[in-house]
Amino acid sequence: MPGYQLTSDWRSTRITTPAVRPQTTYVPKPTVAPAIQTVIQPTVAQPRPVQPIIKKDPDTALLPTPMSAVDVMLRLVSPEKDQVVYDLGAGDGRIVIHSAKLYGTRGVGVEINPETVRKAKERVKRLGVEDLVTIVEDDILKYDFQEADIITIFLFPDLIEKLVPLIKKPGTVVISANHDIPGKKTSKRIVGIDGFDTEFFIWYVE
Ligand SMILES: C[S@@+](CC[C@H](N)C(=O)[O-])C[C@H]1O[C@@H](n2cnc3c(N)ncnc32)[C@H](O)[C@@H]1O
Repeated sequence: MPGYQLTSDWRSTRITTPAVRPQTTYVPKPTVAPAIQTVIQPTVAQPRPVQPIIKKDPDTALLPTPMSAVDVMLRLVSPEKDQVVYDLGAGDGRIVIHSAKLYGTRGVGVEINPETVRKAKERVKRLGVEDLVTIVEDDILKYDFQEADIITIFLFPDLIEKLVPLIKKPGTVVISANHDIPGKKTSKRIVGIDGFDTEFFIWYVE
């Protein structure tokens, strides 16, 4: 190949540097400093184009409990076949569905977000527990859930605080994921799930 040389050693056959170097073109440095560009900031804020703001209510955002934690949560309260399990703020209904499938319990999931309710109803159908699980679109602070034997919650503390006075039936077992139940004597369980310590608080209503 013109301009290139192959070494004779077969163990390291390689192309060496070109025998003829390409010609270098030198660009002379400018002798005069380039003009400094001046940016003039407006003193009065300019109106920005209007962006649509989609505000998601954090209270009704779907934050599902991982299935491994759902499993632990239910094991901690050991539901029995004749008990009724309520998940207040049911999300996609996974807790009541899992309890129905594993323990044969009847369950009700109360959920305020219509889109999430739709997902939960679909899940109930898909997993074939329509005879045991009902999903209700309602506000847990208005819905009558007194028939519940077991109540599961994974809610923000301010909502738990409002909910607590509405849980009255003695014998009801309430289990809360991640947040304690204010003003109530609870037993705290810390369980390592998927490499993280998860806290559960159990309240036996007297
Ligand atoms: C953190 S998610 C938990 C979902 C589900 N319990 C789980 O553990 O996978 C809380 C759910 O509570 C619902 N929620 C919030 N406020 C509610 C209210 N006042 N009534 C009914 N549901 C409510 C939200 O829409 C959301 O789906």
